[in-house]
Amino acid sequence: MSDATGGNGGRLAGRRLALGVTGSIAAYKSVELLRLLQTEGADVRVLMTHSAVEFIGTLTLETLSRHPVDRDVLALQSDGKIGHIETAHDVEAIVVAPATAHWLGAMANGLAGDPITAACLAAAVPVVVAPAMDGGMYAHPATQANVAKLREFGYRIVEPEEGLLASGMTGRGRLARLERIVDEVVAALASAAAMTRTSKRGPVGGVRASSAACISAVVSARAT
Ligand SMILES: Cc1cc2nc3c(=O)[nH]c(=O)nc-3n(C[C@H](O)[C@H](O)[C@H](O)COP(=O)(O)O)c2cc1C
Repeated sequence: MSDATGGNGGRLAGRRLALGVTGSIAAYKSVELLRLLQTEGADVRVLMTHSAVEFIGTLTLETLSRHPVDRDVLALQSDGKIGHIETAHDVEAIVVAPATAHWLGAMANGLAGDPITAACLAAAVPVVVAPAMDGGMYAHPATQANVAKLREFGYRIVEPEEGLLASGMTGRGRLARLERIVDEVVAALASAAAMTRTSKRGPVGGVRASSAACISAVVSARAT
């Protein structure tokens, strides 16, 4: 019998990931995303905002991930440890899908009011972000500025797609196809591994690559 929680071979075999889910109508797709990441071999723990819990609850994600869902930045784990810090230090990558306009703004400004922003701030691993929202919301200069800021941090943005939205209108705001998000996680881990190999060959700019931003910056500097 095979195990759906990271035991099988695949592009993410044995990798430990965090999946952040925020309060978009597309939150229901995070269940399928979790399954795809597991099918690739990853062990995934889920972090949610309060709004995301309103949309889809925690039970399904908790059951399928076989980890408690971290839904409250102020709640300690049963062993007394701080959940988002433990996650930040344990996982090898964080994927936030779907990411709301509100979450993008919070993250761009370093506001640690939910377990996902808090874990991202505390982590030094690649972060993949897949926004989903109304087309007008995504096109707004405020949202675009927040997305640009996240790119500056070195986060990988999986651009939303054009299509039918929750409002009944069409526009660019649909959550990217889940396969694209999985591919981006695989690519993020591969480039982080390449960066580690490079830095083992010698000091890189004299500073420790302490965040995904640093990882990304050093990789681009070496590519030019
Ligand atoms: C039915 C409904 C659907 C929504 N869908 C989205 C969405 O797809 N994207 C988005 O950015 N906000 C959406 N919102 C608004 C967010 O839920 C709201 O901004 C919330 O505060 C986000 O919280 P969070 O970022 O902490 O999860 C929706 C609201 C409602 C009522």
